[in-house]
Amino acid sequence: MLALALGSGLLVELARAKLREEPGLLDGALEAAKRHVEGLVFLDSDDGHGECGKEIDAGKPRIISAFWPRERRPGAPEGTPLLILGIETSCDETGVALYDTRAGLLGEALHSQVLLHADYGGVVPELASRDHVRRLLPLLHRMLEQAERRIEEVDLVAFTQGPGLGGALLVGAAVAAGLGLALGKPVVGIHHLEGHLLSPLLSDPAPAFPFVALLVSGGHTQLMRVDGVGRYALLGETQDDAAGEAFDKTATVLGLEYPGGPALARLAEKGDASRHHFPRPMISSGDLDFSFSGLKTAVLTRVRELPRLDEKARADLAASFQAAVVDVLAAKCVLALERERLDRLVVAGGVGANAALREALLRETSARGSEVCFPPPRLCTDNGAMIAFAAALKYGEAPPSREASPFNVFPRWDLAEAARGGQSTPLR
Ligand code: KG4
Ligand code: ZN
Repeated sequence: MLALALGSGLLVELARAKLREEPGLLDGALEAAKRHVEGLVFLDSDDGHGECGKEIDAGKPRIISAFWPRERRPGAPEGTPLLILGIETSCDETGVALYDTRAGLLGEALHSQVLLHADYGGVVPELASRDHVRRLLPLLHRMLEQAERRIEEVDLVAFTQGPGLGGALLVGAAVAAGLGLALGKPVVGIHHLEGHLLSPLLSDPAPAFPFVALLVSGGHTQLMRVDGVGRYALLGETQDDAAGEAFDKTATVLGLEYPGGPALARLAEKGDASRHHFPRPMISSGDLDFSFSGLKTAVLTRVRELPRLDEKARADLAASFQAAVVDVLAAKCVLALERERLDRLVVAGGVGANAALREALLRETSARGSEVCFPPPRLCTDNGAMIAFAAALKYGEAPPSREASPFNVFPRWDLAEAARGGQSTPLR
């Protein structure tokens, strides 16, 4: 059960409760709070909860079903400026942002769970969800205060619906759904990678469509052709580890603290990239796919061969490993531009913050008369702004009705499938 204070009220969400099968499930909670319960909200009432609501009705709280009241359709007619709240909780960063379709980004706030997971050397899903529960609302209040806006002014609530950690995603979904209901505003679920993919458009000047996008994060490494919002074609992707994952695993081999990517990049600055020649996996494969899992093993083998692993040795290994990843990424980006006959490359995702990658892509693209666009480093990693912004691009002209507001998450969700309007099996 997930309980969240919303404003002065309390939203209690019974995730995955099989209410129809166990109608007594709510008895204790209702007993304890009978006089104070004003309404029961059955999000997902198509899942059988609505039926069960009839039985609980004896307890006398008002049943508000998930079939949103028709009179509360969103007021904003087409083209009217919208104030969009973005909520990101897919992994280990709690992010919120406020985006005005006319004035741009009005506020953003982020809480990173890096310290929370550091002792474990990686993200612990259960700790991540609990921390999102703790952080999300205070962060939201702080961000609104700084932006000098009130929550009632929000026209549309957007949240990361997937892919990501199921429990972590559910926290964002529950808060978004609760806010939508409390405010009488529609709620939209955004694909996390679409957020990353469109975030470079927040740069000034924004790149124009069409372009090739390199999505490089901890969970994904993909090259996509982007012809417009919602028009994405997958050109190639990693066959095993993502580039960020390779950075993180190699960092562990080098004894660096979590999160490894940025730490490895910092160490690499002091190293000699020509000291070791690591393989450039699939660089000549002729396709646009990647493979990074072998690199970590290559580094590990070299570490075992070295007589000493002092600071200089580690820095050289880090620089040589980084050079291998960067070479492969840059070569495939150039190939993608050539294949698609495009002159614009856009980089998104956490690894896009890597300085050596930026340098190489700038060099390679300018050598062939193309351009490359990077979002500012703070927008490369997970954040709420990209979610609000993606919602602005997708729904800014015509927000959906509240009836369509979702309350489910998709921990595994293919972007191309999402763009076609498809969804994978939801986690409820
Ligand atoms: O996009 P992101 O914040 O989260 C995911 O959706 O995965 O990306 C996080 C990944 C991590 O693997 C992290 O180590 C990597 O991006 N990363 C970097 C750098 N900054 C973040 N990798 C290399 N160099 C960096 N400067
Ligand atoms: Zn991400």
